[in-house]
Amino acid sequence: MAAAPVPPEIAAQAARLVVGILGGTGDQGRGLARRLAMAGNRVIIGSRDAGRAAAAAASVGPPPQVTGAANEEAARAADLVIAAVPWEGHADLLARLAGVLEGKIVVDCVNPIAFDARGAYAIPVPEGSAAQQAAEVLTGSTVVGAFHHVSAVLLLDPEVAELDLDVLVLGDDRHATDLVQALAERIPGVRGVYAGRLRNCGQVEALTANLVSVNRRYKAHAGLRVTDV
Ligand SMILES: NC(=O)c1ccc[n+]([C@@H]2O[C@H](COP(=O)([O-])OP(=O)(O)OC[C@H]3O[C@@H](n4cnc5c(N)ncnc54)[C@H](OP(=O)(O)O)[C@@H]3O)[C@@H](O)[C@H]2O)c1
Repeated sequence: MAAAPVPPEIAAQAARLVVGILGGTGDQGRGLARRLAMAGNRVIIGSRDAGRAAAAAASVGPPPQVTGAANEEAARAADLVIAAVPWEGHADLLARLAGVLEGKIVVDCVNPIAFDARGAYAIPVPEGSAAQQAAEVLTGSTVVGAFHHVSAVLLLDPEVAELDLDVLVLGDDRHATDLVQALAERIPGVRGVYAGRLRNCGQVEALTANLVSVNRRYKAHAGLRVTDV
């Protein structure tokens, strides 16, 4: 596999990032927190409840490397913020935090999908995607879509040393997408691959419903690899 190289200065910037995770008490947030902390980043787990955030942080790693705070404080103290809340709470939470998120990169990993008797399916989003909704709400931030297909189960599994997948990174700002690719690559086994502008994030989010179907059929935690790059 030919790697899409991350410039060394961008990799160094990614290593220094303090990462805040909104909704970081959930599986995805704790999983990303755990892997980024293992890679050496400082991580602040956010929650609607500061006590819940502190408990989740304690389960992930020791302070000061991993700490917990109310979402607003996590957003304020972080250099880069990952939104890892359910689709239902996405717009409201981001709208409330728009002020503190100004000037920051906000990484959206939210998949607007739902489940019925036939399995998972993508929910139509008026803005086109969760990431585009974030960009409409967060006019002062730089929104990047990434980490949609990373399994929280694998992120949290202490037996899994390396994740075997590409993280598709989407956005309209080259420095921001490069930085998020570099951040993704701090997780062993992961490669960050630029996958287009934010207007193309809807397909990437919706594809998660297909991966859920793959997982159910094959009892797996499937990820994606892009070939020939
Ligand atoms: N799980 C995965 O494998 C996976 C993989 C890729 C992407 N994702 C995406 O990542 C996001 C989080 O997934 P998850 O499985 O970690 O979800 P989750 O456990 O259901 O939720 C994450 C956290 O969000 C907070 N939250 C719940 N409802 C909220 C609301 N209405 N407003 C604000 N905050 C709320 C909760 O934290 P507090 O109660 O502490 O505030 C909760 O612990 C989802 O959008 C999902 O599509 C998940």
